[in-house]
Amino acid sequence: MMKRLIAVAFAALAFAAFGLAHAQQPIVIKFSHVVAENTPKGKGALKFKELAESRTKGRVKVEVYPNSTLFKDGEEMEALQLGSVQMLAPSVAKFGPLGVREFEVFDLPYIFDDFDDLHKVTEGPVGRALFQKLESKGITGLAYWDNGFKDFSANKPIRVPADYKGLKLRIQSSKVLGDEVKALGAIPQVMAFSEVYQALQTGVVDGTENPPSNLYTQKMHEVQKYLAMTDHGVIEYAVIVNKKFWDGLPADVRTLLEGAMKEATKYSNDIAKKENDDALEAVKKAGKTQILVLTPDEKAQMKKALLPVHKENDARVAPELIKQVYQATGFKP
Ligand code: LMR
Repeated sequence: MMKRLIAVAFAALAFAAFGLAHAQQPIVIKFSHVVAENTPKGKGALKFKELAESRTKGRVKVEVYPNSTLFKDGEEMEALQLGSVQMLAPSVAKFGPLGVREFEVFDLPYIFDDFDDLHKVTEGPVGRALFQKLESKGITGLAYWDNGFKDFSANKPIRVPADYKGLKLRIQSSKVLGDEVKALGAIPQVMAFSEVYQALQTGVVDGTENPPSNLYTQKMHEVQKYLAMTDHGVIEYAVIVNKKFWDGLPADVRTLLEGAMKEATKYSNDIAKKENDDALEAVKKAGKTQILVLTPDEKAQMKKALLPVHKENDARVAPELIKQVYQATGFKP
């Protein structure tokens, strides 16, 4: 009898110890992304980690995996839906394969003149409506983070559409971007971000489009002789989480994380422009890439070639949303 009592007491103790250890386990958020740490997104992710961990007093641990070390483009969305990763911040140009092509509105050439235009959309009803579309996919949108305006690069001078003829250009997985490249007489090639440097180096593709920050931190300027300041579109991110995971968090923890995300968003968006300006300076300084500043006439030629992409995609992407974006930014098609 005594032996049995002792055994039961031991079992109860072991159970209590297990429960205590379990209760003290932090909630882990794996945050995977594909760019370097010294970029607007890389720094934003680290800021979120710092704020989330300190505000929840260690109840949450954020593990940031930069530079495609955990998942590459294409894999990461599926991993988020399966719950193998909890948080991502993909470029909105990568939502098409998920079946949410409405985000491609951001890829329409010249739709934003500057960051103010962009924020009228991300911080307004269109931004919220787009996040709504993710819910049925098991994804919750938390915030929009900026990178910056894209410029084309290649190994030959590219000033006007005729210069692009026949070039193979790497793009993200967006049909609008495919049509943009075709409108220039070039050939689009969808490829994961992590593979672009090598593809440029080995000549698998001839060129690509990037904000300076991505070009520089992936060292693409070392394998691209010309960078044309086309500023024809943006790279914008949606910070997204697995909905089931997010809804299942203790309410007080979720509130703290929402606060941390709000502050990390402000931080990341505040530094985005300067990060890109600094990266462009660094590209110039490295001396391997010639920066091509387009004349007003060259710019007009690029616009003329690229603007038809709006009409071609209007019906497929989301006519109503596009109209709202035009109204918000004052863009005239
Ligand atoms: C790209 O694939 O070019 C970008 O989406 C990478 C990024 O996350 O900025």
